[in-house]
Amino acid sequence: MKKFKITGVTAREILDCRWNPTVQVDVWVNNEIIGRADVPSGRSTGANEAKELRDGEERYDGMGVRRAVRNVNEILGPEVIGMDVTDQRKIDEKLRALDGSTDKSNLGANALAGVSVAVARAASHAVQLPLYRYINCNAHVLPVPLLNLLNGGKLTSNDLDFQEFCIFPIGAETFTEAMTIGNAVNNKLREIVIKNYGKIAANVGDEGGFATPIKKVREAMDCLVLAVERSGHADKIVYGFDCAATHFYNEETKKYTLEGVELTTGELLDYYKDLIKSYPIMTIEDPFAEDDIEGFVRATKELGIQIIGDDFFCTNPDRIRQRAPMGGSNALLWKFNQIGTLSEALDAAELSYRQGFGIMVSERSGETEDPIISDFVVGINAGQIKTGAGVRGERTAKYNRLFQIEEELGSQARYAGRDFRCAF
Ligand code: PGA
Ligand code: ZN
Repeated sequence: MKKFKITGVTAREILDCRWNPTVQVDVWVNNEIIGRADVPSGRSTGANEAKELRDGEERYDGMGVRRAVRNVNEILGPEVIGMDVTDQRKIDEKLRALDGSTDKSNLGANALAGVSVAVARAASHAVQLPLYRYINCNAHVLPVPLLNLLNGGKLTSNDLDFQEFCIFPIGAETFTEAMTIGNAVNNKLREIVIKNYGKIAANVGDEGGFATPIKKVREAMDCLVLAVERSGHADKIVYGFDCAATHFYNEETKKYTLEGVELTTGELLDYYKDLIKSYPIMTIEDPFAEDDIEGFVRATKELGIQIIGDDFFCTNPDRIRQRAPMGGSNALLWKFNQIGTLSEALDAAELSYRQGFGIMVSERSGETEDPIISDFVVGINAGQIKTGAGVRGERTAKYNRLFQIEEELGSQARYAGRDFRCAF
């Protein structure tokens, strides 16, 4: 069998969509094939994520990643040179051993993640397969995009407490149709927010949704529903939130502050029940704070919809092993850099499927133009993707890659649609 030896690894500092530095890694195979990948970065992060390494120096307000780059060039890279690039698990194990910490804080999760996913891309080039196919010869499911059209929380400067208000075009026939629906709703929404809140209302947040100066959840939902009705696609669309509730939770009082009112876990659950009665909401991410297990368990049991754990799981296999059997949520938000290596992230996906979970593959709020998650979402047949609104290039890149994959798969492409939790 032909060997695909890693012959070089080089990292550099580049900028993400917020103009914060991030890590880009090149992995060379047999001195002739290159796999390049960028590392995204979160802002609304979970406490248990693997830790990115930042320089803390004056340049870039402390956000530089020269140390992480150096760790790739001088430590991680030289150690994987000579290994077979298709040995993903072995390479990832080596990266973890070199770091030696439980949260990748020594060499930096951004350093490890960059090498890990650049290795996967280089391997796919070496064996001359698209990355999604290299990961899985049965890859064929095109995801339903959860389109984050209105932004709040930590990813904007408005007063909305929930972070993401999304449409979920499960009634489309194909991924391509889902995107035309998303575009139509987004255009109607732009008209509505400008009319109601002035021109500035059409400015966008970090993930490309409108950062309209709306204060209340129901007011935001009403704008979205009106846009959907005007688009003529209401029968094909349901709704979803990322509440990112960790960020409106007070650890000391154990209460949530929503629209200026303090709520207990039970009261917030009742609030969700009312919302679900008013709108066809089918998916909610992080409805409670990351360690409010009671909240997650009750939400999963009592709301009867998809409950996704983002900060709750941090794509961490150990947390999934521990928390999934408790009934804390029924879906995983999958972000490879939350855990730091591809093989651990794939373990997290497997573990979740075996619990009967759905999986939503996700961008980070700090993204680059690298569309690698589009290959990952099809590669694991996840059926759901969250990658922001399309009016920013780093978001559009992911959708554009999915158009290519849909075309490549041709008649074998299956849009997850209403079976978004289990598209087989
Ligand atoms: P992050 O947030 O990428 O800033 O962590 C996105 C999310 O909470 O899903
Ligand atoms: Zn989230």
